[in-house]
Amino acid sequence: MVKNKKDEQLEQFRVDDRNQKMTTNQGVKVSEDEFSLKAGLRGPTLLEDFHFREKMTHFDHERIPERVVHARGFAAHGEFELYESMERYTKASFLCDTSIKTPVFVRFSTVVGSRGSAETVRDVRGFATKFYTQEGNYDLVGNNIPVFFIQDAIKFPDLVHAIKPEPHNEIPQASSAHDTFWDFLVNNQEASHMVMWLMSDRAIPRSFRMMEGFGVHSFRFVNEQGVAHFVKFHWKPLLGAHSLVWDEAQKISGKDPDFHRRDLYDAIEKGDFAEYELGVQILAEEDEFTFDFDVLDATKIWPEEDVPVKLIGKMTLNRNVDNVFAETEQVAFHAGNVVPGIDFTNDPLLQGRLFSYTDTQLIRLGGPNFHELPINRPVCPFNNNQRDGYGRMTINKGPVSYHKNSLADNTPATSSAEEGGFEHYQEKIEGRKIRNRSDSFRDHFSQATLFWNSMSDAEKTHITDAFIFEVGKVKSQSVKQQVVDTIANINVDLAKVIADSIGTKPPTGNGSDVTKASPALSQ
Ligand code: HEM
Repeated sequence: MVKNKKDEQLEQFRVDDRNQKMTTNQGVKVSEDEFSLKAGLRGPTLLEDFHFREKMTHFDHERIPERVVHARGFAAHGEFELYESMERYTKASFLCDTSIKTPVFVRFSTVVGSRGSAETVRDVRGFATKFYTQEGNYDLVGNNIPVFFIQDAIKFPDLVHAIKPEPHNEIPQASSAHDTFWDFLVNNQEASHMVMWLMSDRAIPRSFRMMEGFGVHSFRFVNEQGVAHFVKFHWKPLLGAHSLVWDEAQKISGKDPDFHRRDLYDAIEKGDFAEYELGVQILAEEDEFTFDFDVLDATKIWPEEDVPVKLIGKMTLNRNVDNVFAETEQVAFHAGNVVPGIDFTNDPLLQGRLFSYTDTQLIRLGGPNFHELPINRPVCPFNNNQRDGYGRMTINKGPVSYHKNSLADNTPATSSAEEGGFEHYQEKIEGRKIRNRSDSFRDHFSQATLFWNSMSDAEKTHITDAFIFEVGKVKSQSVKQQVVDTIANINVDLAKVIADSIGTKPPTGNGSDVTKASPALSQ
């Protein structure tokens, strides 16, 4: 296989231990690795046994915290090729020059379960891609469902506390079949659309190779002239999107909890590479207010009939990792890693994500130098005046590590936009500081209903069965009743069937009080 820039870089860090002499970490050859040093054949072990101490200390520190969400994941290397230049919309060079092949690293994951949990559970799947571009790393940190549970990042800790195993007994490991999850839904009804997707077959994919991916948020493309467009990203698997059925998913969870990683690993080993096309939905800034929903609301899709998905390139995953810990576990994706030509919007969920990823990685990956880990290093040069910190690998030379200075002529200089410097899009902002959200975020049910109406009969049966299975396990009769009442806002007949099967009263009226989810909105 032809080596790309990332392969060449990783090559410098690969170590082949075969036919090597065993040494300590200080390079001293080891003469004996089966017996600790003792005072007498049957005597106590001696503290001066530096080889034993070093071996045990390293082992004692082998584990790092698992990701607070998306702990169970599997990854592969690959490359991205562009079909046609997008320079009309963005100046990101990997999206302008069709001759560039961009190395990528993709990690798929479940959200809720811990690092050792089963893979075919009903859950959202993460689909995170790191593009190692010549202008820096660009991370598209997406999911396999195009919308999200909440509209504002401040609710993320609440959401995760509700979906993770309940803290008093750590049950259930990876399932939404419990009281706190459904209690969250009924008290935060903005989650309704996402919950419909979660109860659908999308939440039990057949394979990572047969899964769509979505950037979820509205991002911005900015071209060379400084003109911006809103953009939503999609990954479309060339094998098509396929799902398991619930009975299969449950059996496989028991028989082969590694089902999805095995499938991807084996396919790549056989040369049966996983392929996905990158799609974009592009919206002119002047069309921002043409919809009956807010384009900054991550609980909404942009209907593809109105804003078609244009396929602009293809990603091929063609190489398994050499070491799961070094690569898959130490990779640090961040929705805030963008390159010139790609920018953020004021989506309040996205804005909060921009803080959270680096913050969590500072503890998960032990300090501020995790960008130097082989899997996270950009393939282009990276230089600045940052110094020191745990695990620093770079040896910066010279006395000067500040900007600006007159002592050194070789410290890193800034770049203008023309020279490739990142300049934030100069969006005009007006408003008062306020803890609230716009009325345009208020409709929590219309797209959930559209989703339900777009399903085939078989898909509707699967969704109904999923609700009955999951909500049926809720212990609180009050929460069950509130779920039924909430679903009535989406489809009354669906709510009635569920009510009938889980032993609640039929839904009251046409659903519960929507204002429960949204505090009084005023501007
Ligand atoms: C992982 C926070 C919403 C996709 C994570 C992690 C955190 C986090 C702390 C663990 C990162 C690590 O340890 O390296 C948040 C917050 C959100 C949010 C605060 C909302 C406010 C989303 C959304 C998506 C998403 C909307 C999809 C569009 C992912 C993925 C991963 C992840 C794919 C796993 C990355 C990997 O494989 O390493 N998130 N997240 N998250 N998040 Fe989010």
